[in-house]
Amino acid sequence: MSHVMNTYARLPVAFERGEGAWLWDTAGKRYLDALSGIAVNTLGHAHPQFTAALQTQIGKLIHCSNVYQVREQEWLADKLCALSGMQEVFFSNSGCEANEAAIKLARMYGHGKGIETPNIIVMEKSFHGRTLATLSATGNRKVQAGFEPLVKGFVRVPYDDLAAVEQAAAHNPSIVAILVEPIQGEGGIRTPEPSYLQGLRRICDQQGWLLMLDEVQSGIGRTGKWFAHQHSGILPDVMTLAKGLGSGVPIGACLTAGKAAGTFKPGNHGSTFGGNPLACTAGLTTLNLLEQNGLLAHAEALGNFIREGFTRRLGKLAGVKQIRGQGLMIGIELDKPCGALVTAALENGLLINVTADSVVRLLPPLVLSEDEARHLIDTLSPLIETFLQS
Ligand SMILES: Cc1ncc(COP(=O)(O)O)c(C=O)c1O
Repeated sequence: MSHVMNTYARLPVAFERGEGAWLWDTAGKRYLDALSGIAVNTLGHAHPQFTAALQTQIGKLIHCSNVYQVREQEWLADKLCALSGMQEVFFSNSGCEANEAAIKLARMYGHGKGIETPNIIVMEKSFHGRTLATLSATGNRKVQAGFEPLVKGFVRVPYDDLAAVEQAAAHNPSIVAILVEPIQGEGGIRTPEPSYLQGLRRICDQQGWLLMLDEVQSGIGRTGKWFAHQHSGILPDVMTLAKGLGSGVPIGACLTAGKAAGTFKPGNHGSTFGGNPLACTAGLTTLNLLEQNGLLAHAEALGNFIREGFTRRLGKLAGVKQIRGQGLMIGIELDKPCGALVTAALENGLLINVTADSVVRLLPPLVLSEDEARHLIDTLSPLIETFLQS
């Protein structure tokens, strides 16, 4: 009997090593990784320069404490702010912690304005994490069930619906912020109307609210820009990151700008591990390697190539509802639950995921080559065809 707590429905495979976009299991079988540990392994596996940078840092200093100055945090914060136009960064260890920081910050911002019970607008079908506050913010009953009482202070509206936000504004004077994913990841790779984020920005400016973007899944180059909201030409007040930032080393970040900057003062928030020298070196090296290797433009072009490839192969099939996404954040929505495809792909040496029951989700590493993308399309298309005929 396993002594690991039974919190995941795990697939019957364990991996021993990886290289680039490929993983090898303990029996020596090779798999193309089109999931990247759910948008984490930005640089693929065992990237030589990334490995070398981490080895050097481990030999110097893994951890000290936030009681002291941490130069690596300063360097990574400088780089993140230069890339995003944000002003300051709090480092955490995960996406839910980055969102916890954002939620706490929004509440403190509200109290600063004299609002005693600040509320945050959140979306249907959203996902923000598994801590109590972030699962309360999440728009998925399955994630919340059994953990009531939920954290209060969230007002839920449909995604991609500006009128619903305007209506909430008219009815609730305690709203202080909106927390939203620029593209919903767990919710099924849902891409809103191009003008949606601009509309939210306008409402937040009119109301004096914080626009808080959860870029935990969509950030770090995955959509072809550093951060998905940059496709809309807006600047948020708060942005959260994690997943791809450390290429597998746990790190999260909560960034602020404008009226959100300066909200937290010493003692308001903290973390023992958050932003330690190893994690920040992983973050900075990831960003530098993405930049040096032109991987943002690559993600955009390869994403188009993959979506076009699947559209050619599957687009006209009955049962395929939509092929969508941006850059290397890709969803293929079918007209029925398709979890069985994950096992079929695994048997065929391909790692994919299904989310929101009926959406095949592809989040390959940004180092995926065109040949590997072709292999992905050639392997997955017949599996989907067969599945839809069954
Ligand atoms: C958009 C988004 N926010 C937050 C999280 C939570 O991140 P973590 O699992 O690192 O806590 C996720 C994880 O899937 C996510 O996709």
